[in-house]
Amino acid sequence: MAAEYLPKPQEKDSHKMDAFSIHCLTSQRWPTIHKEVFLFLCCLLFQVQCVESGMLKCSHPDAKSLHAAITDALGSKEIRPVHSLKTPTNVSTKFTLYGILGVDEKAQILTTFLWQGLEWNIEDLSWDAEQCGAWRISLPRTKLWVPDILINQFMDEDRSPSAPYVYLSNNGFVYDGRPVRVVSSCNLDIYTFPFDVQNCSLTFNSYLHVSTDITLHLGRSAEETLRHSKDVLETVGEWELIDIKAEDHFDDQSDKHFDAVIFHIVLRRRATLYVVNLLVPSCFLLAVDLFSFLLPPQSVDRSSFKMTLILGYTVFLLIMNDLLPVTGSRIPLINVFFSICLALMVTSLLETVLITNILCNSNKYPALPSSVRVIFLKYLSRLVCLPQKPKDQATVMHNPAVQVENQEAEACSSVTVDPQSDVPILGELKKLSQDLLAIRHQVDKHLAGDETAEEWIQFGNIIDRLLFGLYILFITVSFITISVIWVQWYRL
Ligand SMILES: *[C@@H]1O[C@H](CO)[C@@H](O)[C@H](O)[C@H]1NC(C)=O
Ligand SMILES: *[C@@H]1O[C@H](CO)[C@@H](O)[C@H](O)[C@H]1NC(C)=O
Repeated sequence: MAAEYLPKPQEKDSHKMDAFSIHCLTSQRWPTIHKEVFLFLCCLLFQVQCVESGMLKCSHPDAKSLHAAITDALGSKEIRPVHSLKTPTNVSTKFTLYGILGVDEKAQILTTFLWQGLEWNIEDLSWDAEQCGAWRISLPRTKLWVPDILINQFMDEDRSPSAPYVYLSNNGFVYDGRPVRVVSSCNLDIYTFPFDVQNCSLTFNSYLHVSTDITLHLGRSAEETLRHSKDVLETVGEWELIDIKAEDHFDDQSDKHFDAVIFHIVLRRRATLYVVNLLVPSCFLLAVDLFSFLLPPQSVDRSSFKMTLILGYTVFLLIMNDLLPVTGSRIPLINVFFSICLALMVTSLLETVLITNILCNSNKYPALPSSVRVIFLKYLSRLVCLPQKPKDQATVMHNPAVQVENQEAEACSSVTVDPQSDVPILGELKKLSQDLLAIRHQVDKHLAGDETAEEWIQFGNIIDRLLFGLYILFITVSFITISVIWVQWYRL
């Protein structure tokens, strides 16, 4: 704005004005009781001047004579219609929000359609409705002085429909109503998309005139503006009008200050479309991923199943990318949500690969270190409700084959003790006994190996359960956090 470049008002110039007209018109210094008497005297003495600046005289109560009278009285449309340029013109500003045309997150632009109404006074213009046949008349805007009230946030060429007329009332008030297509810049924060609430401002002020020339005030309270706007709002698009707040600064009258009326329009996005198209399918896929933990990890089924899920989710994200806003400064929370979903699926796939490896190769690994065995098989197994199977020597005994073997061994030992047996039989039996011992060693070794494998399998199952628990915990915590943030913003 050009406040700094404006010349200072010349105090002395005002004395040069016509003394009579000052006395006749702006006799504010005079006590009110004397004012009328003075005016009367004034009018008697200088009749012509008083009639010219007072009421209009129409020769007939018809449009033609009214128009002629007004054209005479309006004088020059180039200057502000005041007698003393020290008097500010009071412009009342109001609007009705008729449509919310769109929000462009990338360009940070809000497009709305307003009905704007301005009202100001032409000093000392009045006529008698009876005498002139009408209490108001519409005139082309080009015929009179109009204030240069603009919306400060306007960012585009004005593509509003034209409305060339204004109303002039018999008390000197001009009403200028016109539709405005406003393309305004607005600081759009899409962090909580699709549950975002936007707060955009429309600042009405004069582009050139400082507040000693034009003062602005609210033509209608913010509550009424909101009510009117909700009544007429035509577009039932993505955005819902929540609130309109107004600020009026007309106290600070100085040479450097621009008077302004600021409206804050609060809009909320209708989130249903995004919930149905983006959030619900994501949650479904994640639920499927969660349930796939029920599949046995030994077989390759689980990992290929999860792999398919990840593939499906990636395709889903690609398709739905169009629905997401192009980000500004901050990454929206919904992108974090998608990342978490994808990360969880990938993690669960990795976990499955690990568990499958442990379970399938259990017999190739050396025995578990004792500390690991204690921590996992003894304590964590209880934590994840997967109690350790009682580790028993009995399995060896219950094995029918082993029992037979034991009996045979006993038989062998009892035979070798007999001193009266024949030598060849003895030799044969000894050989048999050695063979049996060898077999027993082999079986023992095999069983020991089995036990290690059993422990590894147990270990794998415990880890599987444990990670599943952690997975659920993480999903719950992160989803609750994100939901809380969304709900908080949506309630605003
Ligand atoms: C301008 O209008 C406001 C509101 O109607 C009023 O309070 C104020 O006195 C007016 N100012 C002038 C200079 O007429
Ligand atoms: C909108 O923003 C303005 C300032 O930019 C603030 O005064 C007002 O309270 C905000 N309104 C809401 C509802 O957040």
